[in-house]
Amino acid sequence: MTLKLAFIGGGNIAQAIIGGLIQSGYPKDNIGVADPSEEQGAHIKALGVSWFTRNQAVVPSADLVLLCVKPNLIEAVCNDLGPSLRDKPLVSVAAGITTKQLTRWSGSEQVIRCMPNTPALVGAGMLGLFATSGMDSTLKAQVERLLSTVGVIAWFTAEADLDAVTAISGSGPAYFFYLMEAMIEAAEGFNIDPDTAKTLVIQTALGAAHMASRGDATPKALRENVTSPGGTTEAACRSLEAANFDRLIAAACEAARDRSISLSQNSAP
Ligand SMILES: NC(=O)c1ccc[n+]([C@@H]2O[C@H](COP(=O)([O-])OP(=O)(O)OC[C@H]3O[C@@H](n4cnc5c(N)ncnc54)[C@H](OP(=O)(O)O)[C@@H]3O)[C@@H](O)[C@H]2O)c1
Repeated sequence: MTLKLAFIGGGNIAQAIIGGLIQSGYPKDNIGVADPSEEQGAHIKALGVSWFTRNQAVVPSADLVLLCVKPNLIEAVCNDLGPSLRDKPLVSVAAGITTKQLTRWSGSEQVIRCMPNTPALVGAGMLGLFATSGMDSTLKAQVERLLSTVGVIAWFTAEADLDAVTAISGSGPAYFFYLMEAMIEAAEGFNIDPDTAKTLVIQTALGAAHMASRGDATPKALRENVTSPGGTTEAACRSLEAANFDRLIAAACEAARDRSISLSQNSAP
């Protein structure tokens, strides 16, 4: 059965998922989006799916409700929708909002919490998922198929693991952007023009990611393979080691994980 989907909030992440679904051949008639913004409405209609300004217009007929509003709006959205959410399976992408909160606010026992990342906007996302024990297993598999249109899915059996997911893949794109930024600056420092510097760095990042994603070789093995004794790469890696590169990255990930934990705790009523 093709699920009738109701998106609450039609911004970046909702449009990314809808775009992925449409590309994979999902019937547009089965997708409804509620968002009060006229501007988003125009984008949504351009995707060829129905747009409504009121959440109540899409929820009653839906088989699955996807909550895609900012985390601070989730409780109000659930309150506004009242009992109509109680029997609906939910998927929430709101950072830091727990399934316990979602069940309390919506009354629904079937909840999937999803932590996507920004590359989902270009179909190359990484999505960490956690489902409540009340979630129907067939529906769980359907949600996995739906969301895999924008990226790779990893399921977690402990909800607390989503704080680690947030620190690694949720915030992770920014770490790679930071590295790219620093390498572009270094290239410009060598008098390479900005456009060429950007191309050198981005193509290198893409190539490295391609190599790391194929075959069985670990990133460590790939690094060691290109590090000849006495060579240029070894000189660079020695400099990174001397600056405790791995400990610096571990500390950054820990800071993000701890912040994710405190955001969840702060939002818990
Ligand atoms: N973008 C990402 O890569 C990413 C990554 C991880 C998690 N997330 C999560 O995804 C969620 C959405 O993020 P986003 O980047 O897609 O945000 P966004 O682009 O701001 O989209 C949210 C949309 O919801 C609309 N909205 C506001 N109040 C509403 C209501 N009461 N009912 C229905 N729609 C309403 C907003 O309209 P207005 O603009 O008029 O307010 C906006 O169009 C957040 O909870 C975020 O934590 C996003």
